[in-house]
Amino acid sequence: MQPLIVVNFKTYSSAMGEKAVELAQAMERASNEHVRMVAVVSAFDLFAVKQAAPTLEVWSQHLDPVGQGSFTGWLQPENAIERGAGGTVINHAEHKVEISHVEKLMHQLPKEFPICACAADVAEAHQLAELGPTFIAVEPPELIGGDISVTTADPAIVSDTVDAVRTINPDVRVLCGAGVKDGNDVRTAVELGAHGVLLASGVTKADDIDSVLTNLVAGLE
Ligand code: G3P
Repeated sequence: MQPLIVVNFKTYSSAMGEKAVELAQAMERASNEHVRMVAVVSAFDLFAVKQAAPTLEVWSQHLDPVGQGSFTGWLQPENAIERGAGGTVINHAEHKVEISHVEKLMHQLPKEFPICACAADVAEAHQLAELGPTFIAVEPPELIGGDISVTTADPAIVSDTVDAVRTINPDVRVLCGAGVKDGNDVRTAVELGAHGVLLASGVTKADDIDSVLTNLVAGLE
């Protein structure tokens, strides 16, 4: 199974609108058979990104477990899928939800639809693993957006999460994130037992996005 490099575009100005399209195309160019690249884009950009980078896997940054009808302003799952979402992040540190939100969403989404539930620590990962999402991404909030990768600052949180999740549900794959910047961080994540990484600023704030993406992917070769 290919390891994942999941790039969260958040609301970085360098990763929204036209820039989201350009970044997605750069990710498409950097992809190869060793890696599963995923762009996690603003709901507004889903359709345009999917059109411009059709071979790239594109996820939503959040979804709400609501139906079709009187739900003003919510991110409705079927609508997101129709516009190109091939997966979703949920419970990101910057968009926390109740565990019941994750549970309802999982019931509503198609069985094979990838869901990446984020956890701040091993205890939260443990709780989420009981629901059986496709992925759990462990990201210590204090390291998000910083210069030190979780794989350097706190490798134990990665390996402990991998162990905890495996005990509860071996089908759930663990990603790690926060401060991930280069191929060495990606390689270390995999050595620690993760199935890949979730990162943002290392890509979205880079001066030379192509070389950063190439370097990240090289960490898996
Ligand atoms: O979703 C990824 C994220 O929260 C990590 O952000 O900027 O530390 O790579 P960053």
